[in-house]
Amino acid sequence: MKQDYDISIKDLSVSYGSVVALKNISFNIEPKSFLGIIGPNGGGKSTLIKALLGLKKPDSGRIEVKQGKKIGYVPQFAEFDQRFPISVNEVIMSGVIKGKKLTFKKYSKEEVEYAESLMKRMDILDLKDKQIGELSGGQLQKVLVTRSMVSKPDILVLDEPTASLDVKVKNEIYDILKCLSEDITILIITHDIAEIFSYVSSVAYINQTLHYHGSDSKMRKNVLELTTGCPIEDLMINEEALKKEFMETEDKYHDQRHH
Ligand SMILES: Nc1ncnc2c1ncn2[C@@H]1O[C@H](COP(=O)(O)OP(=O)(O)O)[C@@H](O)[C@H]1O
Ligand SMILES: [Mg+2]
Repeated sequence: MKQDYDISIKDLSVSYGSVVALKNISFNIEPKSFLGIIGPNGGGKSTLIKALLGLKKPDSGRIEVKQGKKIGYVPQFAEFDQRFPISVNEVIMSGVIKGKKLTFKKYSKEEVEYAESLMKRMDILDLKDKQIGELSGGQLQKVLVTRSMVSKPDILVLDEPTASLDVKVKNEIYDILKCLSEDITILIITHDIAEIFSYVSSVAYINQTLHYHGSDSKMRKNVLELTTGCPIEDLMINEEALKKEFMETEDKYHDQRHH
């Protein structure tokens, strides 16, 4: 990589059998950027993350992480089984041994103290000894974000961390992420079009191809124009239309999957 990028994506194409999920995606992600990845459901956002994590092999092109950079990952909410009998503290501390072989290793004093400082910052320290089944959706998301951070990642990747949370908790999580993004690189997949622009430093709109990637002050306008296909007279109205479109696409996707 010529420049100092954390992640470099070049001509990336990924498919599942005959389904093309991503086609010729190219862009770079600079250190300490806070990137919002948006686009309709089925647009290939999660696939991009899977390729980044090495969980899905590209057909062609490449997606490279700068050497030595450690990635933390918060998977999509639905992938986590909340019935599993485990405490908040155990979930968070399990982030420490991520990547290593699971043993009955004791955590160091530093590791425990660091985890507690993060819990404090997330305002979940009082939940420490609760079972995860007792948590609200918002609390569980904060626990998963905290877990992804105990290993001190350089790059934090979150796949729809605020889906189905109320606005208050959403903004709390975004506030924390924005604060973290002063020190690390953050990639967040989200449908929160109305809120996300006030937090992120750049946006990538992905629908099989990369339709837009930018960090200028006009990114909000550009994305909205791109999606609605018309100049923006009234941002609020179009934002509502945009959200509606997203919801409908999502419903269709779920209908397809479950019927
Ligand atoms: N495991 C899979 N097997 C087959 N097709 C898949 C699989 N995962 C995703 N796809 C398809 O790839 C496309 C992109 O999906 P995905 O990356 O999950 O999109 P997004 O995260 O933007 O909703 C969709 O057409 C989806 O149906
Ligand atoms: Mg997804």
